Amino acid sequence: MKVFSKKNDLKDCLLAYKSNNKTIGFVPTMGALHRGHLSLIKKAQQKNDIVVVSLFVNPTQFDNAEDLAKYPKTLAKDIDMLRSVHCDILFTPSVEEIYENNITSENFNFDGIEHQMEGKFRKGHFNGVGTIVKALFEIVAPHKAYFGQKDFQQLQVIKKMVKKHGLQVKVKGCPIYREQDGLAMSSRNVRLSKEQRIAAPLIYKVLQEVGRKFNTQSVLEVTEWVDNQFKNHTSLRLEYFTIANEKSLESIKIKDSRKKHRAFIAVFADEIRLIDNLHLNNL
Ligand code: PAJ
Repeated sequence: MKVFSKKNDLKDCLLAYKSNNKTIGFVPTMGALHRGHLSLIKKAQQKNDIVVVSLFVNPTQFDNAEDLAKYPKTLAKDIDMLRSVHCDILFTPSVEEIYENNITSENFNFDGIEHQMEGKFRKGHFNGVGTIVKALFEIVAPHKAYFGQKDFQQLQVIKKMVKKHGLQVKVKGCPIYREQDGLAMSSRNVRLSKEQRIAAPLIYKVLQEVGRKFNTQSVLEVTEWVDNQFKNHTSLRLEYFTIANEKSLESIKIKDSRKKHRAFIAVFADEIRLIDNLHLNNL
């Protein structure tokens, strides 16, 4: 595996592959890699000649300094994992290499989807995500880029950015990879205490039950039921639960069988924030 920290070195290397008609698949990450990340890399390997993974903990997408400071950093282990799956190229730039002396984000207009859910609770988050992903797309100029549905809103934001800015990259969404007990894999899971880790699968259990209840109950009934599952919980605190239109990401009050709906949830275990989501069938 080739490892680059300078964007110009990476660009030169990729130019050589591109001039030999090799296709480039790209998987951006913030490191602390787990099998969810690896599932994206596998997908990229199936469809492209060369796979580039970036590892960069992007300061501008964190609305909380403590969350940024405590974000797990496991570079040596990450490199081992990437080698074990035969990743071709790793890009690990410094903050200066990406932002020079100006660590700020661009202001984007994603037609309102950035103001829903995560956008309400993490101010400026999607401007930060848009800024870094656009910068990385400019450096790597991949044919295809792979993102997890785990961050469904992020995936929609990036698709919107690519469309609005006319970027030449195909954005591919990949399914959520879960632990055996259903907990969605996340870099933040390693921060959970034993007790929190035991409690956390409730998040997906609740979503699955929502999937069943949604067929026969109203949105309000389902939402109240979810609230009750976390009321007085000893380790988990519900930040939000909402059922939204999959396209606009606006919360719905009434089901519309012509539209696709998805349930979204954010839960705190102390200060560790966990998110998950599930597509709902319209019956
Ligand atoms: P990070 O949280 O490291 O995630 C990198 C990619 O892995 C994202 O596309 C995310 O949705 C995906 N991913 C994480 N957990 C997953 C799981 N359990 N199953 C499937 N895919 C999963 O998301 C980011 O980094 C950053 O915001 C980034 C896009 C790199 C921009 O900084």
